[in-house]
Amino acid sequence: MSLILQKLCKSYPTRSGELSVLRDINLTLQPGEALAILGPSGSGKSTLLYLLGTLERPTSGSYKLGTQEPFTLGDAELARFRNRSIGFVFQDHHLLPQCSVLENVLIPTLAGAAENLEPRARQLLDRVGLSQRLDHRPAELSGGERQRVAVARALIHKPMLLLADEPTGNLDRTTAQAIGHLLVEMHQQEQTMLIVVTHSPDLAQTLPKQVEMLDGALAAWSGGPS
Ligand SMILES: Nc1ncnc2c1ncn2[C@@H]1O[C@H](COP(=O)(O)OP(=O)(O)OP(=O)(O)O)[C@@H](O)[C@H]1O
Ligand SMILES: [Mg+2]
Repeated sequence: MSLILQKLCKSYPTRSGELSVLRDINLTLQPGEALAILGPSGSGKSTLLYLLGTLERPTSGSYKLGTQEPFTLGDAELARFRNRSIGFVFQDHHLLPQCSVLENVLIPTLAGAAENLEPRARQLLDRVGLSQRLDHRPAELSGGERQRVAVARALIHKPMLLLADEPTGNLDRTTAQAIGHLLVEMHQQEQTMLIVVTHSPDLAQTLPKQVEMLDGALAAWSGGPS
């Protein structure tokens, strides 16, 4: 159940012509592996994460996740595949303000899960340290706690791949470290692949491997801040 990207390109049509953001992305991740992606602002890190998350389609190139080539699927099938196989944690938690913590974690299951996933939601919330906050609304949580809910929600379907885009960007240093460690711990326990995009060398070094986005391709990370 590995991840293989080959010769992935993404360009956007703009008023001043074609903008080539990703030129040649090649990446292989084995089951249970984790990777941090650094790189300057505007280098295409989020674009790559959207493609990995199948939220956008590439201009060319191939993508295989487990046994599936998601971009060969039609939109409805692709949405179903994404919902079951990929979890997302963004810089902003994207929790629904009117729903409780427990309800927020169950939102991805509303699209028709066959089994009752409430026990798993409760268990995940316990593991991220929020068993005493199940009935709180997002506004009644700290920033770090909201990201913990987002991590639990991303894992509800036991995804093959967990993606995080600047997951600690809005947090203070101590809370950021805690969320970084939580992501790594949960990915190890759940045996999901993990890819984290970040500007933070600290967070990147919490993960076992780092690469840098430069000129639309992935290169070895030089070790400095991006
Ligand atoms: N839909 C779009 N249409 C045109 N250009 C786009 C589109 N989305 C992104 N871009 C351009 O692609 C480039 C890469 O953007 P992206 O958001 O991937 O960068 P990033 O590496 O995530 O930056 P940051 O670190 O600031 O988050 C930018 O120059 C951006 O303007
Ligand atoms: Mg970005």
